[in-house]
Amino acid sequence: MKKVITYGTFDLLHYGHIRLLERAKALGDYLIVGVTSDEFDKARGKINVRESVYERMENVRKTGLADEIIIESYEGQKIDDIKKYDVDTFVLGSDWAGKFDYLKEYCEVVYLDRTEGISSTDLRDHTSLKLGLIGKSSNVDKVKHEAVYVDGLEALRPVSGNDAGEVDSLLSECDAVYVYSVPGKHYELVKKALNAGKHVLVESPVAETREECRELFALAKEKNLTLMEGLKTAYSTAFQRLLLLLKGGKIGRIVSVDAVCTSQKPAADEEMRWGSIADWGPTALLPVFSILGTDCREKRIVTWTEDAGSDKTAAEGDKAGQAKPAAEDEKHGQAKPVFDRYTKVDFRFDRAVASVQVGKGMKSEGELVISGTEGYAYVPAPWWKTDFFEIRYENTDENQRYFYQLEGEGIRYELVAFLQAVGGKASAVEIPENVSEAIAGIMEDYAEGRDVTKLAD
Ligand code: CTP
Repeated sequence: MKKVITYGTFDLLHYGHIRLLERAKALGDYLIVGVTSDEFDKARGKINVRESVYERMENVRKTGLADEIIIESYEGQKIDDIKKYDVDTFVLGSDWAGKFDYLKEYCEVVYLDRTEGISSTDLRDHTSLKLGLIGKSSNVDKVKHEAVYVDGLEALRPVSGNDAGEVDSLLSECDAVYVYSVPGKHYELVKKALNAGKHVLVESPVAETREECRELFALAKEKNLTLMEGLKTAYSTAFQRLLLLLKGGKIGRIVSVDAVCTSQKPAADEEMRWGSIADWGPTALLPVFSILGTDCREKRIVTWTEDAGSDKTAAEGDKAGQAKPAAEDEKHGQAKPVFDRYTKVDFRFDRAVASVQVGKGMKSEGELVISGTEGYAYVPAPWWKTDFFEIRYENTDENQRYFYQLEGEGIRYELVAFLQAVGGKASAVEIPENVSEAIAGIMEDYAEGRDVTKLAD
């Protein structure tokens, strides 16, 4: 019996795929089709695949052409498979001509002409989502840059968000918006976009209070639109895997979650010169609420604000953490913003504790440690750009290291997740609403001075 093997992603199975499978099958008696795993595709930079590996396998199965379907999940697997299945012929389309000649050592290698005029990429492009960008910062530029790598997404030129007319005209041109502005403006901008029937990806926090956050999610639901919190760490493969491992009991019962995020330099753009809690808070809070849930029993916030010598606490008057003029600097006659240089939040949940430390213009080790009864998870600095973590045990021989590809600081995955959520994909990674709400809640409590103590200057 002559065995033939071929590989592919087979996303949105099309005529070109079927023709290839037919011709591959005709080359022998038994056809094995290797379908790439989601993980393997991501690792080789193919992040826009619309269908899950199971959907893609099912579509291949339905063609009735494959005698056996396997998953391709690692580099170098082809040689293993050829040996394992005793393959006679390896087949791929002519777009790969020459690339797999090294397999000739193990079997016959055949490249078949690719069918002209059709590809998964083309099919994906036909459903292009026009993304309007609102905000003025290097972040917006990064999103514009990363959108180029996401099939089916077309980023429009950014508008600042300060001019209502400009925002209106952008909303009339797009299907969805990405919003990055000072948190005080999020609520109005998001509401406006949702009311205009646009899907929204908004940088954290979604709004400044729990109530506003709830209202926005309810509005999105009512209008059947996607509202998603843009927190790039949440969408990275490593962070997602870490959550799954912890849920699966990898380190036993979780006792504490401790996250630190600091940066030495404040943002260059004055408008975006937020304090630590507004800038870093959502990122640092993400693992706490994602791992321990949002039902916190007690918390204590200690903050050091730099507010031009004013005695105001975070609770008084000015919304803390924002670039809002708080007091006149008498010497220079310039307005200085309330700016928390350092804030620490301690939480007590029913069965665990947590702490977050955020700072700007100070430095500490930016690591994430999750401690459990059997071991602990360690994500080294800068943990919010997670591509690696380690599960550590008392017996260090049992330690396990996990590496995952991280493209474009995670923004690329955030955009893919958004696109999938808009497309109604159940498998799309999303930050649960209650986590978004809890994050907004901490911002609210901080601004209102609930459970807040201020350090002396
Ligand atoms: N193929 C083909 N003719 C096409 C498209 C694909 O013969 N028009 C072949 C490829 O050469 C490969 C197999 O089908 O051997 C699986 O290809 P895959 O990469 O999954 O499909 P593409 O449509 O090329 O996907 P993409 O646009 O994402 O690269």
